[in-house]
Amino acid sequence: MTTLCDMAVDVLTTADGREKTAKSRDYAAQWFVARDTDTPIAIGTANPPLRPARPDEPKLLDPRDVPKRKPGSPQGRIALLHAVAHIELNAVDLHWDIIPRFAHVQMPLGFYDDWVKAADEESKHFNLMCDCLEEMGSYYGDLPAHAGMWRAAEDTAEDFMGRLAVVPMVLEARGLDVTPGMIEVFRKADATSAVAALETIYAEEVGHVAYGSKWFHFLCGRHEKDPKDAFHALVRTYFKGALKPPFNEEKRAEAGLPPDFYWPLTESV
Ligand SMILES: [Fe+2]
Ligand SMILES: [Fe+2]
Repeated sequence: MTTLCDMAVDVLTTADGREKTAKSRDYAAQWFVARDTDTPIAIGTANPPLRPARPDEPKLLDPRDVPKRKPGSPQGRIALLHAVAHIELNAVDLHWDIIPRFAHVQMPLGFYDDWVKAADEESKHFNLMCDCLEEMGSYYGDLPAHAGMWRAAEDTAEDFMGRLAVVPMVLEARGLDVTPGMIEVFRKADATSAVAALETIYAEEVGHVAYGSKWFHFLCGRHEKDPKDAFHALVRTYFKGALKPPFNEEKRAEAGLPPDFYWPLTESV
C-alpha cells in the first residue's frame, strides 16, 4: 500500500513544477479523504532525496549574480513574481520533505494533517504565481533564480526541531513581513490577478507559521525544553546572520510567534 512517505518521495523526485504540484494536490486530497472516512493512510518510511528534483529551467545562480530589476517596471514585476514562484516551489518540497525525513519521530496524526494541508497550499501558490507570470507573457523558468534555497533543509536534515525553528518560524515568518509591500507594488500597477494571488498567499502563510509554532511547542513539551531558549539556540545554530526588522508583529502574533522569540535574534552574537 502507498504510504504518506511514498507519496512525499514521489513529489520530491518529480522535476517539473506543474507536474510536482499536481501530484502534491492529488496526494493531499487522498490524505484528507482517508482521514474523513477514519481510514488514515499509513505514514510508513522512505528515504527522501538529499535534494528534490528540479526542472532544467530556471537556471540557478548565486543570489549575488541574479540581476536586479526595477520593481516599478513590468519586467521588475515579472521578476518579483518569478522569485515568489521559485520560493513556493521550494516550499512544496520543504513541506513534503519533513514527512519522510523525520518519520522515525512518533507524531500525532494532526501533525501530518497540518503539513499535508500546507503542502497543498504551497502547490496552489506555485500554480497561482505561474498563472500570473503566463498572463504577463512570461513563465516559471524564464528568468534565473536563486540557488541555495534548499540550504536550510540540508542544514537541518538531522534536527527536527531545528527544521521547525528555521523553516516555518524564520523563513515563512519573513514572508509575512514582506508580502504586504509586494501586494502594494501590484496594486499600484493595477495588476488585479497578482494582487488576488498574493493576498491568498499572505492569508494562508499565517497558518503555516502557526503550524510551525504549534509543533515546535509540542516538541519542546515532550523534551521539557523552554520554547524561547530552544528557539534562540536552534536559530543561532542553523540560520546564518541576524533577523531583519521591520517585523509584521500583528501577523506574527496571530501565528503564535511572540516578539521575545524574534527580537533578540536581530543581533548577531
Ligand atoms: Fe506559500
Ligand atoms: Fe508557506
